Amino acid sequence: MTASSPATGAADRVRAPFGVRTAPVTARDVHGAYTVLACADPTGPRPCAGQFYMLAAAARWGAGEDERPYLPRALSVLRAPEGGELRFLIEDVGPGTERLCELGPGDALSLVGPLGVGFREPRDGRRAVLAGGGVGIAPLAILSDQLRAHTTVLLGFRDGAHAAGAELFPGARVATDDGAAGHRGPVTDLLAQELDADPLAEVYACGPPPMLEAVRALCELRGVPAQLALESGMACGFGACFGCVVPTRDGYVRLCVDGPVLDAGRLQTALVPGAGH
Ligand SMILES: Cc1cc2nc3c(=O)[nH]c(=O)nc-3n(C[C@H](O)[C@H](O)[C@H](O)COP(=O)(O)OP(=O)(O)OC[C@H]3O[C@@H](n4cnc5c(N)ncnc54)[C@H](O)[C@@H]3O)c2cc1C
Ligand code: FES
Repeated sequence: MTASSPATGAADRVRAPFGVRTAPVTARDVHGAYTVLACADPTGPRPCAGQFYMLAAAARWGAGEDERPYLPRALSVLRAPEGGELRFLIEDVGPGTERLCELGPGDALSLVGPLGVGFREPRDGRRAVLAGGGVGIAPLAILSDQLRAHTTVLLGFRDGAHAAGAELFPGARVATDDGAAGHRGPVTDLLAQELDADPLAEVYACGPPPMLEAVRALCELRGVPAQLALESGMACGFGACFGCVVPTRDGYVRLCVDGPVLDAGRLQTALVPGAGH
């Protein structure tokens, strides 16, 4: 395999400037179970697909006035159009994401980023096949924006409310666990069909650990390279706390600085301890 370039065609990662920036929220849209927040970050660098930000609400980020605020939460960048806008896709699963989902124009985010290593270009002239599950669809939107060639996008959701996230990906093929939209069954059914039809592909995947493990195993069996965007609990986002370590074939890595995108060949399993919802 040859070394491949980042999907942006620029540096191997974009590094975050020092310090926390305040970014006014410019728009809030709801797509079924997901909220998309847009904010203005004109002084920040443009991120690579697969990088993430540590986000907090600039106000009311904690339980009470004299109490310690929450840690910021890791969020993949969904889209980064020209002009310094950043968009994030958020699923309300707990107190931090609930507060972020409440924000709208007139509020502001505190953010650090872009952080981590993103996706790289397909190697050896392969076509890109993108497979996302649930809120893991987020980094695939900016990836399909940044890859210059046509991409195949496969999205899996648990039900119809979550499948509304597919509105962000015109032309994507959809699978749902309950059959409410598209194919009834896991998104890996669609991926297997794609790879059976044309195995000269590179797979880019993000989603819950069981889905990523199914993608990893399927690609390994077929000899298809894959890049997986993993999750683990992140407290700092820049390599200081070791809260995000995951095992690889060549030892433990900190997912926030060595990932979150890892080559599937580096992993014995994508079922990493402490990861996923
Ligand atoms: C690199 C990275 C990118 C991410 N991108 C997105 C994104 O684009 N959109 C989005 O909605 N979420 C994303 N997440 C997950 C998000 O950070 C967590 O859902 C969030 O921190 C939960 O905080 P909370 O206070 O709402 O809930 P908590 O009370 O902290 O947790 C609620 C539930 O989520 C689980 N959980 C908490 N943190 C994580 C985590 N980091 N990974 C997996 N499970 C977790 C908990 O075990 C619990 O079951 C990402 C995480 C990482 C590491
Ligand atoms: S989140 Fe602190 S080292 Fe990775």
